[in-house]
Amino acid sequence: MSETVAATEPEPAAHATSGATIQLEDLTKIYPGTPSPAVDNVSMDIKAGETVIFVGPSGCGKSTTLKMINRLIEPSSGRIRIGDEDVTDIDPVKLRRKIGYAIQSSGLFPHMTVAENIALVPKMVGWSKSKVKDRVEEMLDLVGLDPREFHGRYPRALSGGQQQRVGVARALAADPPVLLMDEPFGAVDPITRDHLQDELIRLQHELHKTIVFVTHDFDEAIKLGDRIAVLREHSHIAQFDTPEAILTNPTDDFVSGFVGAGAALKRLNLTRVRDVEIAEFPTVTVDDPLQSIFNKLRSGPHNELLMLDRRNRPYKWLRRGDLMRARGSLARAGQLVHDTVTRDATLHDALEAVLTDSGGRVAVTGRRGEFIGVVDMQTLMNSVHELLEADRLTAIEHQHDLEELRTHQTVQELEGGAGA
Ligand SMILES: Nc1ncnc2c1ncn2[C@@H]1O[C@H](COP(=O)(O)OP(=O)(O)O)[C@@H](O)[C@H]1O
Ligand SMILES: [Mg+2]
Repeated sequence: MSETVAATEPEPAAHATSGATIQLEDLTKIYPGTPSPAVDNVSMDIKAGETVIFVGPSGCGKSTTLKMINRLIEPSSGRIRIGDEDVTDIDPVKLRRKIGYAIQSSGLFPHMTVAENIALVPKMVGWSKSKVKDRVEEMLDLVGLDPREFHGRYPRALSGGQQQRVGVARALAADPPVLLMDEPFGAVDPITRDHLQDELIRLQHELHKTIVFVTHDFDEAIKLGDRIAVLREHSHIAQFDTPEAILTNPTDDFVSGFVGAGAALKRLNLTRVRDVEIAEFPTVTVDDPLQSIFNKLRSGPHNELLMLDRRNRPYKWLRRGDLMRARGSLARAGQLVHDTVTRDATLHDALEAVLTDSGGRVAVTGRRGEFIGVVDMQTLMNSVHELLEADRLTAIEHQHDLEELRTHQTVQELEGGAGA
């Protein structure tokens, strides 16, 4: 019976592996011919399935620390453990096959197609041809690129954002427990960067890898990190904690300097669109007869509709006035949808999108860009208000604690004085 079960049981899902712990122990790097260590005695425990961000000023040793984890840079001293294994002295090539690595400007091989780039590591570790083929499709799908369209393209025929997606697909292809990312979104424009960040969050929801991500952008760190390690020179850890803790309680001036002004507003980076109310919105599609669109706008309670394209993606906003001017064709009526957000976008992104589009709301879309609903200005303002209120309460509590402590100390001093 057990044999039958074994025979019919499907292979475990290709992405069944989830994250492994990473321990850095007194890790130091002194580059030859340099007087002081680039990385000095860093110790850090990273949990399995956690996203940890290294953030700090340029030259503080972030990349060096990261590259010691997969031993692209050999440590001068100290130890690295991944899962239960001490990997400080194992064959670095073998080690790197178990660790995904994604960098700025994607690092794709220009003479290989997208599919060949993604297939690279799975082939090296000896996966069968058919398994590799399936995996390539699965990975393209995972990072939101249509396999049929992108499979055979060369990197130069991709936009920066698409290259970056392929870079992530390649890093994840052999299903490594650990993913290292060194400023992977540093070279793309801000809107694409936002979307890539959202995608990474969505991926991580599914995959639970252990991700170590380097950036010098604190907003990116807040958005992506379960925990953030704020690093100062020589990779000394100034603070290693959750984004909330760092925002509300920076340990010293270096950290608060890095957090920068407007900590309360930065908390908008911690709340996601999925955490607020996504409202319904009346829609029509490009294929609907003109007359029915007219009727819907005239008879309904709304003076605005969202027109979707044939793949159900937001296309343009149509108001009553637009129809008056349409004269039989909607081709030039309405306002094109400029920006959309996914459920994983932050309220910060949503607010930005709402402010860019003058209509006071932003369309929320799913994995394939399909329309889900809208978030409006009022909802966002309510959230901002709640966040600010929560911060104010925390600050008051903190003040109370301090006062209590002072009273306590004064009483003790008085009592001490009385006793003497
Ligand atoms: N190959 C190298 N040889 C000598 N010094 C290096 C080398 N790579 C980096 N450094 C130095 O080490 C320090 C840390 O660099 P890096 O880890 O790249 O910092 P970050 O990624 O935080 O910008 C810098 O002072 C840099 O100049
Ligand atoms: Mg760097």
